Amino acid sequence: MSKILIAGGSGSIGKAFSKIARENNYEVKILTRQKKLCTADSSYLYWSPINGELELNGYQPNHVVNLSGAGIADEKWTKNRKKLIIDSRVKTTKFLITQFKKLGYQLDSFISASAIGYYGDTGDNLVDETSDPITDEFISEVCVLWEQAAAEATSICSNLTILRISTVLFRGGGALSKMDKTIPFGMANYLGNGKQYLSWIHIEDLCHMILHTFTLPEGHHIFNAVADETPTNFNFTKTLRDVINPKALLMPAPSFSLKLILGEMSKIVLNSSLISNEKIKQNGFSFKYPNLKEALKNLY
Ligand SMILES: NC(=O)c1ccc[n+]([C@@H]2O[C@H](COP(=O)([O-])OP(=O)(O)OC[C@H]3O[C@@H](n4cnc5c(N)ncnc54)[C@H](OP(=O)(O)O)[C@@H]3O)[C@@H](O)[C@H]2O)c1
Repeated sequence: MSKILIAGGSGSIGKAFSKIARENNYEVKILTRQKKLCTADSSYLYWSPINGELELNGYQPNHVVNLSGAGIADEKWTKNRKKLIIDSRVKTTKFLITQFKKLGYQLDSFISASAIGYYGDTGDNLVDETSDPITDEFISEVCVLWEQAAAEATSICSNLTILRISTVLFRGGGALSKMDKTIPFGMANYLGNGKQYLSWIHIEDLCHMILHTFTLPEGHHIFNAVADETPTNFNFTKTLRDVINPKALLMPAPSFSLKLILGEMSKIVLNSSLISNEKIKQNGFSFKYPNLKEALKNLY
């Protein structure tokens, strides 16, 4: 049985991915900083990247999936928060790779998360994996540093894959749990002028995409994890409204109030992201949910 280790696997994507990977006959263990999870369940292994601790207990994975990182939108971007957002990805990734080097473990694949924030505000221009980052934007800078750190994994694996992940759609958390709150009560808020593109992916497709990357040939791969249909923020909100409560009114949440409340973090919702998924499709991946309405109908 092929073995997977997921760093940061206690989070939303990690939990969904563990389930799907186990259903596909992989053995899965999760690296967590939370000691109590490890005491309660042997599929959790303890690490503390900040204290240089890693307790693999002899577990030798074939594949490592690296999802660790402090929540991007969980708190306001103060100087300290920004440092934590970067360190929890960059230092953590470097620590993981260094430890595997020291142990002399050779992996089949090392899959590392990145984000479509790499591209900054794309406006109406379709970007692909060859497009340049916008390095004067914080999230773009985070992604560049994160991907550079992950690139060091070429020394411990034959297949290094970086996934630039878009807004992941799942129930009970993430972006949808913020967007769907007021709809049952009759109000659906699109953000700013609503013209910015919103790239998304159904969580099930993302999990299957991660499994698909295990089958890629040797090399250093980068893919956008984005569904086919990219609506504007207005059309996304309208579709969500139609699925949850068609009677709800569509109302704008103006840019100035979002900037006032969220500060620099408002870029996450006001930036446009129009991003190609051609490369992953050309590499043999098929989406189960290419269309937004079908994805939302499945989730709600
Ligand atoms: N969800 C999305 O829409 C989306 C979109 C693009 C990219 N991504 C990226 O994909 C990755 C996984 O996303 P997710 O939604 O599953 O995130 P999540 O639910 O926040 O989980 C991330 C995990 O990272 C670990 N972590 C948190 N703070 C950390 C720190 N300071 N140092 C080391 N580890 C830390 C936590 O595990 P323990 O507490 O168990 O150690 C946590 O469970 C993240 O890096 C995220 O930025 C997500």
